Amino acid sequence: MSTFTIDSGTSRATPSPVPGKRMTVPALRARKIDGVTEQPIVMLTAYTMRMAQLLDPHCEMLLVGDSLGQVIYGLPSTVPVTLEMMCAHGAAVVRGSWHSLVAVDMPFGSYEASPEQAFASAARVMKESGCAAVKLEGGEAMARTIAFLSERGIPVIGHVGLTPQAVNTLGGYGARGKSEAEAAKILTDARAVADAGAFAIVVEGVMEAIADQVTAALAVPVIGIGASPKCDGQVLVTEDMLGLFERTPRFVKRYDDLAARIGAAVEAYAGEVRGREFPTGEQTYRPKAT
Ligand code: KIV
Repeated sequence: MSTFTIDSGTSRATPSPVPGKRMTVPALRARKIDGVTEQPIVMLTAYTMRMAQLLDPHCEMLLVGDSLGQVIYGLPSTVPVTLEMMCAHGAAVVRGSWHSLVAVDMPFGSYEASPEQAFASAARVMKESGCAAVKLEGGEAMARTIAFLSERGIPVIGHVGLTPQAVNTLGGYGARGKSEAEAAKILTDARAVADAGAFAIVVEGVMEAIADQVTAALAVPVIGIGASPKCDGQVLVTEDMLGLFERTPRFVKRYDDLAARIGAAVEAYAGEVRGREFPTGEQTYRPKAT
């Protein structure tokens, strides 16, 4: 079922403010020329239509991250996230955006078994959400799958370094690349993913020097998270950078304190309801004075 048409009569979704041209994979890829990205790429996560509408004018890419497992569904990790969740939230984000390239995360278990399994899952995500690209975690081990998808019309963003779907193997979310062997493996993984055809690569939670090496070594844009300012772009989980959670990882900069602001607004509402101060005449329907 196609779910990405806007019905502005029955939903709060607003049609494109300016019917514009969406960022494309070749245009995004071309932001890095001869190893140099003049204008860093701005990427944020989005899971809902309204958040997509708010972020879209400021971003080149919106990522429907499987971090929605924790952020939206209160799950303990990204491991339980399903293809159904990614399709539904991907469609909402496509409906709420008109400018950014929308990429959707492939959830754990939907792509690792074989390139064929990955193709079936990715094709479903693209058909049901209308997204332009998928992202999947893994280095050398995923190279054959990335080549298989890229050669069959599915643009892929790689993801190396700290790969949260592997939390049970890694034993936690600590920064990667502290030993020489681990650092060398991250570089090898990034090269393998780029050589396989990924048009961009997310590098997460690595020592800054490794992020710099990966960025310098690859022809495709490298998007950092907990990585380095020298990356070709940056991505953060939007709810983290807006301060919606009390605890945020060290690499997140909080640009607002939405948790406190929401708390204050809801406290004011609750006080007015209890004191019968809300609603007032302004918010109730009364016969018009004649
Ligand atoms: O799931 C996610 O949100 C991500 C980003 C943090 C890169 O993969």
